[in-house]
Amino acid sequence: MLLSARGITKSFTGVKALDGVDFDVRPGEVHVLLGENGAGKSTLVKILAGVHAPDRGTVHRAPGTRLAVIHQELALVPRLSVAENLFLGRPPRRWGFVDKARMRHDARRLLDRVGLAVDPDTPVGDLGIAGQQMVEIARALDLDAQVLVLDEPTAVLTDTETDRLLGIVAGLREQGVGLVFITHHLDEIRRVADRITVLRDGRSVGTLPRGATVERMIELMVGRTIAEQYPRRRERPGEVLLSVEGLTRAGAFHDVSFQVRAGEVVGIAGLVGAGRTEVVRAAFGVDRYDSGRVEVAGRPLPGHDVGAALRAGLGLVPEDRKGQGLVLTSTVGDNLGLVTLRTTARSGLVDRVGQRRRAREMAAALRVRTAGLDRPVGELSGGNQQKVVIGKWLMADPKVLVLDEPTRGVDVGAKVEIYELVNRMTAAGRAVLLVSSDLPEVIGMSDRIVVMAHGRVAGELPAGTTQDKVMALAVQEFQA
Ligand SMILES: Nc1ncnc2c1ncn2[C@@H]1O[C@H](COP(=O)(O)OP(=O)(O)OP(=O)(O)O)[C@@H](O)[C@H]1O
Ligand SMILES: [Mg+2]
Repeated sequence: MLLSARGITKSFTGVKALDGVDFDVRPGEVHVLLGENGAGKSTLVKILAGVHAPDRGTVHRAPGTRLAVIHQELALVPRLSVAENLFLGRPPRRWGFVDKARMRHDARRLLDRVGLAVDPDTPVGDLGIAGQQMVEIARALDLDAQVLVLDEPTAVLTDTETDRLLGIVAGLREQGVGLVFITHHLDEIRRVADRITVLRDGRSVGTLPRGATVERMIELMVGRTIAEQYPRRRERPGEVLLSVEGLTRAGAFHDVSFQVRAGEVVGIAGLVGAGRTEVVRAAFGVDRYDSGRVEVAGRPLPGHDVGAALRAGLGLVPEDRKGQGLVLTSTVGDNLGLVTLRTTARSGLVDRVGQRRRAREMAAALRVRTAGLDRPVGELSGGNQQKVVIGKWLMADPKVLVLDEPTRGVDVGAKVEIYELVNRMTAAGRAVLLVSSDLPEVIGMSDRIVVMAHGRVAGELPAGTTQDKVMALAVQEFQA
């Protein structure tokens, strides 16, 4: 045994995160840790890594065993370059000075290992979130640890990158490395797991062998079965609520046009770098565009003006929830009310009581796991923070809600609850623009799918299309 934890118990203010958990890692195995959002997975990882001390229980490591951890929250410094991040705190030196040439060279070698084609001098903050994740992975690989813990490494990756990562994982297992792998993508678990330990409410409820079915995993994890994973209820489309016409920004996207009608869920699919996030951010006014036109409910929307977008009834759940979606030091309740505060003012006064009631209802609908609405949102587990970002925008009840990768890091049960709230919005005559790299999700929940490739619209597909058809458009090449 490389690592073994016995009877781990840990409480935070108001919550028992772990309660008597046993867990161990053998050489040459992938031990998956599975559980709903807030079940205690990341807390266990932090205890194994020595970030937190347990209240009770012990962690024993075989002598000489090095442990590398890729935590759920990215730990990069955005302003520093890729190379500087890779060797943060341990740069190669020559005559006492940082050897920049060698650092760049070593960085290239590491980036090759994870298949990330970027210039090592690029500021890490300029990479997309998937690129940042790959940098984290490269950094951990360089530590040559005997135990590697990956806490939701694939949440922000696309299928291609995930395949590459799973290949790396298989290679490390061959070499005798013990791996702990956390993911909410149950199909990945079937591909890599040697055994699966399931946590529920801080307790270990069982360990499944390799080859366990998805149904069995869900049952053990949520204590019930899920009848329908994508419960989309279609509405008859009404007036055009969002119209994007010929939107162009040099080097990012070109001549992008689409419409979203009341009652519709329109999906935007495409590979990473296809320009999906760039287009929706520009349409929402976060970033500028060079030419084109955006209209909300028939009225032109000025460019690069988030305030105007909000007033016109647009909402945006961004892909980078940590950076753009939440005030981590504020409470759960205040975060849920962030957008609504200005609209719920009654006779000039902010309606705090109504606000609190609505926040409580939303937290319950999404089953946000928190010790209370007054707790700082930064204390919540990753998936529960994601639910708060979505809840905040659902509470604001915009005419058109743009969801950019809404269910990243969200457990299977909570996904269904988010989809039900999407249904509720469209039933009320609102519209949803769903950007997602999760193909089953975008196919299962969209009424139509706009596929982007290389910054352009490659085509549109109807509901119920196949993954192959989406991919065929997504890899399309254009004449310059
Ligand atoms: N620093 C902290 N302060 C207070 N509570 C915390 C802290 N860290 C975790 N918790 C609480 O402990 C519980 C378990 O959280 P943890 O992050 O381990 O869940 P998780 O299984 O990793 O969930 P997810 O799938 O959402 O990442 C949650 O209720 C969470 O709010
Ligand atoms: Mg976690």
